[in-house]
Amino acid sequence: MVSHRQWILLLSVLFMAYGTMGAPPRKPIDVPFGRNYMPTWALITLNTSMEALRFNSIWTSTGFQSKGSYLFGHFSMQIKLVPGDSAGTVTAFYLSSQNSEHDEIDFEFLGNRSGQPYILQTNVFTGGAGNREQRIYLWFDPTKTYHSYSILWNMYLVVFFVDDVPIRVFKNCKDLGVKFPFNQPMKMYSSLWNKTDWSKAPFIAAYKGFHIDGCEASVEAKFCATQGKRWWDQKEFQDLDGYQYRRLMWVRRKFTIYNYCTDRVRYPTLPPECRRQRHMNMRKKSIIGRPPGALEFLHVTI
Ligand SMILES: *[C@@H]1O[C@H](CO)[C@@H](O)[C@H](O)[C@H]1NC(C)=O
Ligand SMILES: *[C@@H]1O[C@H](CO)[C@@H](O)[C@H](O)[C@H]1NC(C)=O
Ligand SMILES: *[C@@H]1O[C@H](CO)[C@@H](O)[C@H](O)[C@H]1NC(C)=O
Repeated sequence: MVSHRQWILLLSVLFMAYGTMGAPPRKPIDVPFGRNYMPTWALITLNTSMEALRFNSIWTSTGFQSKGSYLFGHFSMQIKLVPGDSAGTVTAFYLSSQNSEHDEIDFEFLGNRSGQPYILQTNVFTGGAGNREQRIYLWFDPTKTYHSYSILWNMYLVVFFVDDVPIRVFKNCKDLGVKFPFNQPMKMYSSLWNKTDWSKAPFIAAYKGFHIDGCEASVEAKFCATQGKRWWDQKEFQDLDGYQYRRLMWVRRKFTIYNYCTDRVRYPTLPPECRRQRHMNMRKKSIIGRPPGALEFLHVTI
């Protein structure tokens, strides 16, 4: 068994080794809930003593949202999902703009019966159009402890991370005629709702580490869009590095249930951005072909 501490240590060594090729997103700093967020529905309990927010509601939906709007940045949250029988519940964590042709970047955790695995669905909406679902299983039980879920968003790409493992990349494919979220500030939201039987309530999802490191654009969207000087704009965040691609491929191979880019029934002609994804996969296969120590390492430790 590799202990958590050793894992962190080894991970740091690996990051250092790959440090010249790229970088993981900046380490989130815990901030108090009240600084960035406010509740959007009644009846949520804020437990500041443990910096955890619990949904414990008999309403059909409950949640919170950020006070400010942001254009680009790094957004993360530590969440411990509804344990036990969570079938029919959906815990969401997402960025969304507020207008009708909206942009949206979604994490949705689909609950399940006791002992059955959660599904993590991600989606990207641009200019009001979504239908870009991907679904994966997680490699841990998300109800046991807090795990971090984060989004890196800049002019070049949107990356979804689970505990620093990139599980999805949506690249800017403007050149292929695909809209990319670049000019509409977004707020960060989290919510919990049911498609189910509330006799099984309360459903409790716990949150902490309410981290936002973005360009606050509530007033000056143009300023954020043109600046290009923040840490997330720098070279090492414009693409994943080799190590991160290998981790992404690991998620694709072992945990992916559904990917709209491989759904030929739904999309006889694949959406243009999928071409780039396939291209990317093929290019990266050569790296996978070599037996990299780092990949083996992932197999044993998680
Ligand atoms: C807040 O968290 C503390 C520490 O876990 C716990 O003892 C307390 O009962 C919680 N309070 C509420 C209102 O949930
Ligand atoms: C729940 O668990 C079952 C059995 O493992 C699985 O087939 C299903 O995809 C899971 N997820 C949901 C949302 O039902
Ligand atoms: C959630 O539960 C309530 C109470 O049982 C029910 O009235 C409502 O229709 C449910 N919502 C959804 C989206 O199924």
